[in-house]
Amino acid sequence: MSEFGSNSSVTDSYDEYVMPIWKSLDVPVERAHGCTLEDFDGNEYLDAFSGISVTNVGHGNDAVVEAATNQLERFVHGCSYVHPNEPVASLAETIADVSPGDLQKSFFCNSGTEAVEGAIKLARKYTGSTEVVALEMGFHGRTLGSLALTGNNAYKREMAPALNDVFHAGAPYGYRCPRCEGERCTPSCADDIEHVIGTHTSGDVAAVVVEPVMGEAGIIVPPDGWLERVQEIAHDHGALLVCDEVQTGYGRTGELFASAHFDVEPDILTQAKGIANGLPLGAFTASEAVADAFDAGDHLSTFGGNPVACASALATIDQLRGGIVENVREQGRWLESELDSLEGAHDAVGQTRGLGLMWGIELVDPEKTGPRGVAPAPDADLAASVRDHLRDESGVVIGVGGYYKNVLRLQPPLSMTRDQLQRVVEALERALEAV
Ligand SMILES: Cc1ncc(COP(=O)(O)O)c(C=O)c1O
Repeated sequence: MSEFGSNSSVTDSYDEYVMPIWKSLDVPVERAHGCTLEDFDGNEYLDAFSGISVTNVGHGNDAVVEAATNQLERFVHGCSYVHPNEPVASLAETIADVSPGDLQKSFFCNSGTEAVEGAIKLARKYTGSTEVVALEMGFHGRTLGSLALTGNNAYKREMAPALNDVFHAGAPYGYRCPRCEGERCTPSCADDIEHVIGTHTSGDVAAVVVEPVMGEAGIIVPPDGWLERVQEIAHDHGALLVCDEVQTGYGRTGELFASAHFDVEPDILTQAKGIANGLPLGAFTASEAVADAFDAGDHLSTFGGNPVACASALATIDQLRGGIVENVREQGRWLESELDSLEGAHDAVGQTRGLGLMWGIELVDPEKTGPRGVAPAPDADLAASVRDHLRDESGVVIGVGGYYKNVLRLQPPLSMTRDQLQRVVEALERALEAV
């Protein structure tokens, strides 16, 4: 056993004992508070990624810690269905209150991928159909069912086939859309879903599953009217609209749920990530009519709806509604104008896009043409170098993602202040100049 007294002993143990499935951000963490991460050598970093968009009300949020601690002292495990308990009951009621449309009944699990798996099962049970349509480049998780929906074969190599009856339609990725002119898609871009239903499916579709803002694909914000058209197409074909809000939910985009930016009422809403500010919890929520399609025994999770996680979620939602969502709107507007200037000032910044505090900065090589002859070529190496420069020279942690791995991701804790955000933007400017 090593003594965990330094960054290197932690990373050495990772090398030896932890499965090598991801390249880390190279910031081992010993403690964290608010928007600050501290490593084992006492170095502090400003966190503008929130552990992939999770610690929405800030690391170590006092109210969340208190709620979790109180519940830890009462009892830790009840299995949400075996022993009815107050945190599950209150959270389900609260979600019914804050979620869009007539979404009412929730099932609690432990993660985003489980929420998506459960949503597929429920849609199948309700409609009696099995087929599902999702989007190219979309991300819905890595267990076999959700992996089938994920529209990126980088995650599927040597793992497929997962589900056989999943079909993919084009994403509203305006910057690189082969169907639309200019840098934004139009709502009619959603007609590709209709085309896929007509040409690839039997016509009996259980669900159309989309992210209202596509996170892992590179923070892709659809044009106004697109999600409304998706809903219309889904319903015209007897399919449910499943909005996967695992990443966009819980205040990230300036609304509690990103669906609220659009004129839609999802039939099923999946949630995880920010729901409990870092404690493992996921959920899917449906209207009473849809939810009641499940019979006893159709679904269960031993740990799902852990009372400590549910108590933390209640405190998280309380904090979000108590001013943090408002902060997202205010800081988001400021960030948008700062990033717009960045786009104008650097040829390598192809496009900046986002909502609230969920922003992507797509980096390109302006000298080369991108895939399918649309837009300049993605520059993944540049994105990685900029991220590393931010970390090493400015102590700022950001993510990199996107289908082409060339999108810088700013997804800080939603409690981030203007001063902190300004530090991030200034560091970004320095990194873009330097790299
Ligand atoms: C939209 C979306 N759905 C599902 C998932 C899977 O969530 P988890 O990693 O908790 O399984 C993610 C994770 O990034 C996601 O962004």
